[in-house]
Amino acid sequence: MAGQQPALEKRSVPAIFDDLSRRRLVVVSGKGGVGRTTLAALLGVALSARGKRVLVATTGHDDRLAWMLGAEALSDARQQVGDSLWVQRLVPQTCIREYGGMVIHSQRVSSAVFDNTVVRRLMRAIPGLDDFSLLGKAWHEAVRGGDFDCVIFDGPATGHLIYTLGVPQAILETVPSGPLTSEARLMQAALEDPEVTQAVLVGLPEAWPLTELGELGATLRAKLRMHVAAIVVNGLWPSDVPVVPEPSSDAQGLAAAFAEQVNRIGDIGRAQAGDVDAWSRSQAALGCGAGAWTTLPWRWRGVSDRASVRAFLQVLGDRGDQLA
Ligand SMILES: Nc1ncnc2c1ncn2[C@@H]1O[C@H](COP(=O)(O)OP(=O)(O)O)[C@@H](O)[C@H]1O
Ligand SMILES: [Mg+2]
Repeated sequence: MAGQQPALEKRSVPAIFDDLSRRRLVVVSGKGGVGRTTLAALLGVALSARGKRVLVATTGHDDRLAWMLGAEALSDARQQVGDSLWVQRLVPQTCIREYGGMVIHSQRVSSAVFDNTVVRRLMRAIPGLDDFSLLGKAWHEAVRGGDFDCVIFDGPATGHLIYTLGVPQAILETVPSGPLTSEARLMQAALEDPEVTQAVLVGLPEAWPLTELGELGATLRAKLRMHVAAIVVNGLWPSDVPVVPEPSSDAQGLAAAFAEQVNRIGDIGRAQAGDVDAWSRSQAALGCGAGAWTTLPWRWRGVSDRASVRAFLQVLGDRGDQLA
């Protein structure tokens, strides 16, 4: 529109998913409770429907992720939930052993080392090692393992994420050269390569939280040299609801009550759409370094099983809805 400020590019959800399907590691983040895990499940199903072998790896404990992907509960071992879809909860103890095994190249030696109580206690005292093992495991499966084309990392919320993703860099800056630094160097290179790793940041449709999310994007870019594919604004109420006029005759008051509810929904939806549009034209959005932004509607019946994920993808016009 003439005279309007430039805006961060808005893209459709399927276009963003197409783009992400070419990456090996997709890091999903944002504040707690905004829909990170929901987006990770949508992405898992959508990318797997594009023919990719996908692992959805979470550091959370929410079994809803398992339900959304068609399993009964999360497990610390990888579970296959579709032809080309897996889910796994990443916990430090398992990751230290598994990832340590990969580094040491022998599960037997690794178990002897890492299952030793004294060693475990010692390792717990090393700051960042838990996070390094989680990230290392996700990175290994994404880049080096060969079992998957893509890992969706439903990682920790905002503050902790910066810390977790920053561990390889911290190791490179502080630890003398050795096996740990060679791993950290490979990991850092993968995180910085936009062909390999992209972050997706999720936030609610409110001005200030979106500004904060943009700051997270800018920090990922400046401090960790990572790339943010998109900011996903989740949970928008409908803004295309008609404004219902006050009824002229309404003996029982039903029409007035109905009009009030419809108008309330529309008012919230329009206010959110306005906030989000203003944010997309703000310096905060333009300067956050994200490639694009998109929106996900609020789903009144929730998103808690495989059928609701499929129905959600259908509403978004994504072919992932066809996956059995
Ligand atoms: N678009 C949506 N429509 C309806 N409910 C949603 C939507 N996105 C998230 N939720 C609900 O919000 C809650 C938090 O979502 P979740 O994905 O677990 O967030 P996070 O992983 O960021 O903590 C869950 O109960 C989830 O079902
Ligand atoms: Mg979560």
